[in-house]
Amino acid sequence: MSLDETLARIDADLPEATERLLNLLRIPSISTDPAYKEHCQEAADWLVEDLKSLGVQAEKRPTPGHPMVVGHVEGDGPHVLFYGHYDVQPVDPLELWNSEPFDAKIEDTPEGKVIRARGASDDKGQLMTFVEACRAWKAVHGTMPCKITFFFEGEEESGSPSLIPFLKENAEELKADLALICDTGLFESKTPAIMTMLRGLLGEEITLTGASKDLHSGMYGGAAMNPIRALTKVLANLHDDQGRVQVPGFYDGVPEMPDEILKQWEGMGFDHGKFLGDVGLSKPAGEQDRTALEMIWSRPTCEINGIIGGYTGEGFKTVLPSKARAKVSFRLVGQQDPHKIRESFRAWVKEQLPEDVDVEFHGHGNSPASQMSTDHPAFEQARRALSEEWTNDAALTGCGGSIPIAGYFKTYLGMDTLLTGWGKDDDAIHSPNEKYDVESFHKGIRSWARILDAITK
Ligand code: BES
Ligand code: MN
Ligand code: MN
Repeated sequence: MSLDETLARIDADLPEATERLLNLLRIPSISTDPAYKEHCQEAADWLVEDLKSLGVQAEKRPTPGHPMVVGHVEGDGPHVLFYGHYDVQPVDPLELWNSEPFDAKIEDTPEGKVIRARGASDDKGQLMTFVEACRAWKAVHGTMPCKITFFFEGEEESGSPSLIPFLKENAEELKADLALICDTGLFESKTPAIMTMLRGLLGEEITLTGASKDLHSGMYGGAAMNPIRALTKVLANLHDDQGRVQVPGFYDGVPEMPDEILKQWEGMGFDHGKFLGDVGLSKPAGEQDRTALEMIWSRPTCEINGIIGGYTGEGFKTVLPSKARAKVSFRLVGQQDPHKIRESFRAWVKEQLPEDVDVEFHGHGNSPASQMSTDHPAFEQARRALSEEWTNDAALTGCGGSIPIAGYFKTYLGMDTLLTGWGKDDDAIHSPNEKYDVESFHKGIRSWARILDAITK
């Protein structure tokens, strides 16, 4: 059977494949909010049933949190593990959505047809591109392209608390020759990407407490320390005026990219103006001696993701709050050590606090950066296969986002990972009105068929 037959099958089956994805998207599997626990179970059940319809031996596997889905199917040639996550981000702010986040549907837009729903791009749509490629393969060949382990997580968007124990306990069962992950984007609309560098992530929540209760700011203001004042001062010190992060030791372990890589990146024709212009911005705000591409691929960052404190409702209230809180995250690169940075950050915050302000820290996940080894022959095979599907050759790129599991596969299972995906910058992942282009879905399925063909030849 030729690859062309599988591709033709994919084309013919696109309407049904899209319907299946819409059904999965209608399950509100928000992992971080306990109110959606049952829906996470439901999404896992849906996937188990769908895998079974492909002849995969699949089951829902309990964890202390949301379940994993693990499926196995036999085949010749290499053994690959495919990973994706079925959980999605919360939908707030709901009022900014133009339609119901879980009322998944196809929409016609001036730029083409899109699948609109929370999770369409991150990661249900992407996950299903692989499943649909396997379905078409099976329909044409009667068998799967190779031995495949399917591994779907339901806690990726909430820091994967059950993941490392699960990998350790099931190492023998999960270990394959190579892992495939579909949870990243295209380089640009006609150029696919294979990600070779992923940034790590460290989350910290700081709570400052001043007075023992909220106070009237007329009665006490001036005399009493305001914890928001202390907090904003610390937050303002995180960056200097050149955009560098000022936490001591923060840049330890940050490598300089070799000139040849920087040249290669420069030659990729990344449109810096459009990248920021598309979201209403104009000037890169990071380290002023770096390009925007370096800022997102190879440089570490510190971002304040949220500030809470005082009166934030409608109208006005002259309050002097007792507490102020901020959520701060760091993207890490190279050999930066999340534990050392956490310690250094906490000590640095404490040093700056005035009398009468107490601090409590709460850590939110930490994972180091990871560098993919591209020695496995599948990288070159996949790259060539992708070039057949897309107008331009696949680019080897960095990735600003974090997918800690790729590093864990190496550490705990000794397995390399090939990361690719079909998302676009304007998919609005984690944001209102998330979408996935029907073209991403369609060409993504075709791409996986080509990759599976190339790595099993
Ligand atoms: N799919 C994303 C990672 C991603 C984002 C890849 C953008 C490529 C471009 C993943 O689901 C994600 O959101 N990861 C989180 C980390 C996680 C530990 C919450 C992230 O990067 O913030
Ligand atoms: Mn994702
Ligand atoms: Mn995500």
